Amino acid sequence: MTPRILRSFQAAARQCFSTGRTYSLPFTSHHGKRFASSTTRSRPSIAYTVYLGVMGGAGAFAFQHFSGDWSRKKQTQENDAIEYASRAQMLNAAMEISQTLNREDSISYDEDVIEHHGHSEWSTAKTNERPVAVVYPRTTEEVSLIAQICSAHNVPMVPFGAGSSVEGNFLAPYSGICIDFSFMDKIIAFHPEDMDVVVQPGVNWVDLNEQIKHAGLFAPLDPSPTAQIGGMVSTNCSGTNAMRYGTMKDWVVNLTVVLADGSVIKTRRRPRKTSAGYNLTSLFVGAEGTLGMVTEVTLKLAPIPEDTSVAVVSFKDIREAAAAASKIIRSGTQLAALELMDDLQMQVINRHGSAAVRKRKWDESPTLFMKFSGTTAAIQSDISRVQQLIKPHNPGNFHFAKTKQDEQDLWAARKEALFTMVSIRKEGTVLWSTDVAVPLSRLADIIDISKKECSTLGIFASVVGHVGDGNFHVAMFYDPNDAEQKASVSKVVHDMMDRALEMEGTVSGEHAIGLGKKDCLVSELGLETIDVMRKLKRSVDPKWLLNPGKVFDLPSS
Ligand SMILES: Cc1cc2nc3c(=O)[nH]c(=O)nc-3n(C[C@H](O)[C@H](O)[C@H](O)COP(=O)(O)OP(=O)(O)OC[C@H]3O[C@@H](n4cnc5c(N)ncnc54)[C@H](O)[C@@H]3O)c2cc1C
Ligand SMILES: *[C@@H]1O[C@H](CO)[C@@H](O)[C@H](O)[C@H]1NC(C)=O
Ligand SMILES: *[C@@H]1O[C@H](CO)[C@@H](O)[C@H](O)[C@H]1NC(C)=O
Ligand SMILES: *[C@@H]1O[C@H](CO)[C@@H](O)[C@H](O)[C@H]1NC(C)=O
Repeated sequence: MTPRILRSFQAAARQCFSTGRTYSLPFTSHHGKRFASSTTRSRPSIAYTVYLGVMGGAGAFAFQHFSGDWSRKKQTQENDAIEYASRAQMLNAAMEISQTLNREDSISYDEDVIEHHGHSEWSTAKTNERPVAVVYPRTTEEVSLIAQICSAHNVPMVPFGAGSSVEGNFLAPYSGICIDFSFMDKIIAFHPEDMDVVVQPGVNWVDLNEQIKHAGLFAPLDPSPTAQIGGMVSTNCSGTNAMRYGTMKDWVVNLTVVLADGSVIKTRRRPRKTSAGYNLTSLFVGAEGTLGMVTEVTLKLAPIPEDTSVAVVSFKDIREAAAAASKIIRSGTQLAALELMDDLQMQVINRHGSAAVRKRKWDESPTLFMKFSGTTAAIQSDISRVQQLIKPHNPGNFHFAKTKQDEQDLWAARKEALFTMVSIRKEGTVLWSTDVAVPLSRLADIIDISKKECSTLGIFASVVGHVGDGNFHVAMFYDPNDAEQKASVSKVVHDMMDRALEMEGTVSGEHAIGLGKKDCLVSELGLETIDVMRKLKRSVDPKWLLNPGKVFDLPSS
């Protein structure tokens, strides 16, 4: 990450203060310029498109003549092996798509674009395969046409939002065609009186909140500032606000989904409540694009709180910090967010944070960041209550924001931490980031043990957490070419998963399963449960074309 890009990320992190008040993403100017992709992503070049227009015709011809009529092939049965198209057939399908959509910017074969869609700096899980092309639909109908063509050619389809997921969720281990939703970025209908909004999947959550704030409403999920609603639905994301507002699944009212064969379904109607039939909405939330492609989302919205404030307090060790956090939660104090950063994170912030963050000299010890929201009076009383509650844990200085500027600066330290850490990593090292969640009573134990284990590795290994809901992350930078180091990092991660499961926790608090955590999911749920998931998948995606190899393995392997 170049310093310039880091600064713009820090700026974005500052802006998306997540109360719904001050959203704007300076680098989100227009399509293709959104930051996460700005280094590699570009619109398909005109020259290329002309080439495709020509080749598209040839491709369609080749398809009709040589690849047989796949659509009439017998439907795959329960135990039939799964077979995907060859690379040449995939390219034919891509050409047929570009010809069918018949727009200049509907497809890209650009090497950098493909690399950006088939690789992630944020994810340890990697694959050597890449999609053969990236397509950019604009409407549900176009997504349906793409699915029909891919289905006819047996081509895997991999949906892609902003590419900020961290478990290899959008990689293409079986190649295929990547479907990038970032051109589907329209707010379709805003119903402030009903407190909901209908959006296309490519809408960025920070932009959305900026556009609806005049009505006093916001969508309270806050993962990566680059993330888009479709990706957020598909990972059942959360963020710092989850402590107060829950996770994505609580905010999705209904969805329009394109299935593998191109059929389009609506999961239900718009009222907030229903008991009419199976809840198909929840089937697609957190499905990581393995069951269908989300092309429209109706989201519930929350009122922007009257006032907010932030307080920050450090502790002498991580166990005290985690214990204080559990105590605050159990007291029932209504915090909007409760976040933990360890000593290493605080060092990073002191040395490399943005100018606004470095104005303050932070204690380089484990620190809790708290966000309060509600009426001004209630916030005052919550802050004093928290100060009393944490006293037995020997807190350091308790800082709370005196001005709105202060508030933003304090919270920015938390929001910047991850980007800053990634940007200053040692040459040749890569990130291994993982998250688990445990019941609250075990939080201090697991954080303490995990931190100790990490410190034996002799590498940069840091703990940061949404401790407000028992969820924490470990970020480690290791040398992927050092086999021994890689093995010991992997062991620490797996031990942490096992420990979380022993404590009746989960192997993924919010980053979903992707490629990276498939084995852990088997340990968490057992093969019988996974088999039910596979049967479900088979029933809506008989040829196993949607994001194959994610969440669980293909049936034949
Ligand atoms: C700095 C940073 C901080 C983060 N903080 C948090 C956090 O606090 N909380 C949290 O939960 N996550 C966090 N994340 C992870 C990430 O932001 C979330 O997982 C987010 O929901 C992913 O959104 P995206 O648009 O980037 O999706 P992508 O990464 O593009 O895709 C995610 C998955 O959804 C599928 N998908 C995408 N669009 C569609 C669609 N339209 N239909 C069907 N499937 C689709 C993809 O195939 C993939 O499986 C963070 C990541 C980073 C880099
Ligand atoms: C939800 O249902 C309503 C009413 O049928 C419909 O107008 C809206 O488009 C649906 N939303 C989605 C995302 O399908
Ligand atoms: C159905 O699932 C959605 C998404 O998980 C959720 O928001 C909604 O409350 C559920 N509805 C019912 C009736 O369970
Ligand atoms: C989404 O997250 C919530 C809270 O962690 C969890 O209760 C729910 O089961 C998850 N849903 C899916 C579909 O992953």
